[in-house]
Amino acid sequence: MFAATAIFAVLVGSASASALSSFASLNERALMPDIASGCSTTGTASCGNTSAVSNLCCFESPGGLLLQTQFWDTNPSTGPSNSWTIHGLWPDKCDLTFSENCDPSRDYTGISSLLTAQGASSTLSFMNTFWKDINGDDETFWEHEWATHGTCMSTLETKCLPSGSPKGAEAVAFFQTVVKLFQTLPTFTWLSNQGITPSSSTTHTLASLTAAIRAESGFTPSFDCTGSTLNAATYYFHLKGSIIDGAFVQISAPESGTCPSTGIKYPLKTGSPVSTTSTTGTTTSTSTGGTGPTGTPGSLPAKATIVASSEGGLLSLGTWSTQTLATYTLTGTTSSFTMTSSKGNCGVSGGTFACGSGMSLTSFSAVASGSSLLLASGGSTAWSSDGTPSGSTAFAVFTGSSHAQDYTLSIVST
Ligand SMILES: *[C@@H]1O[C@H](CO)[C@@H](O)[C@H](O)[C@H]1NC(C)=O
Repeated sequence: MFAATAIFAVLVGSASASALSSFASLNERALMPDIASGCSTTGTASCGNTSAVSNLCCFESPGGLLLQTQFWDTNPSTGPSNSWTIHGLWPDKCDLTFSENCDPSRDYTGISSLLTAQGASSTLSFMNTFWKDINGDDETFWEHEWATHGTCMSTLETKCLPSGSPKGAEAVAFFQTVVKLFQTLPTFTWLSNQGITPSSSTTHTLASLTAAIRAESGFTPSFDCTGSTLNAATYYFHLKGSIIDGAFVQISAPESGTCPSTGIKYPLKTGSPVSTTSTTGTTTSTSTGGTGPTGTPGSLPAKATIVASSEGGLLSLGTWSTQTLATYTLTGTTSSFTMTSSKGNCGVSGGTFACGSGMSLTSFSAVASGSSLLLASGGSTAWSSDGTPSGSTAFAVFTGSSHAQDYTLSIVST
């Protein structure tokens, strides 16, 4: 279901380490919304209400399932060769159906002028690089995305705006929010960090693409293909508050895309890479295509999340969950290291992995497997649990594969 959650507050700056977020931090100020919704961002997320909500200016409905869609266009290529591009932000209903073109009276034209006139020129400049129409008509594409999808957002209805807002202020807020959300979802960098880079020869399984994004972000997107060629990715969210300045709560994809399960091509783009100077300096990849993952499998990261091969990963108590993963501190070398979490020492006791103040440190090793580094206890990379986690249900993690669900655990540098 939809219970695995992480909140991307709309404020940029603490966004994921990525090329795009470093771009964002330069523009952080300018990307702040010009208008404020006045809505709380701590209440029930969209699609999570159990009775009718009356104020739809602060609760996105009926389009409470928000899809941030991205393109990987190679024929012809659009945008930088080392970034996916923005398609849009779509308000699907909670049951995955949707409405479009909800208010033709607000089908604004001249989006560039609108953004410039309302102080959003840095948003426009980002869009000029990253929100590209395949036929080269970006302006028409932006008008289409607003008219088709933006006008269906309840929290962007004109009556929800502060009094005195200029005409089109809600569309300006829409474009600002889409840009900010996209900047937290650096698909190219995430795939690259996991060793998946564009190539004219390699093919991928859908499972490997999905696992790569899950390892980097904690959530699965859906992927769309044209034939067997990767063309789009979609990230799914619920929203607390308004599209203007609410908190996007990510969920894993509740539907499949159109890619086949095997033989997926991820072709090279023509064109130039965007500059990817890192300001955060952790796992950011600065590859421009064709290079491998950042960390070498031989080195042990000092801080890592522990990601399960099937889904989810480890929380701070050492349990297996699909909720936001804990950061572990690793001390030693790949052949012998100890682990701690915010709860305390981690160790294996009686065949169970756990962390806490009462635990004694035990020694682990890390085993390279492809581009992954697998957690091993007593030399074995096999781990298992009695069930599959979902929502707030977590399971104890046992050494070996004798319990019902078995998996490996990857050490993913944070
Ligand atoms: C949630 O709120 C919306 C808007 O009021 C309403 O249409 C929907 O039926 C509510 N969902 C539930 C389960 O009550």
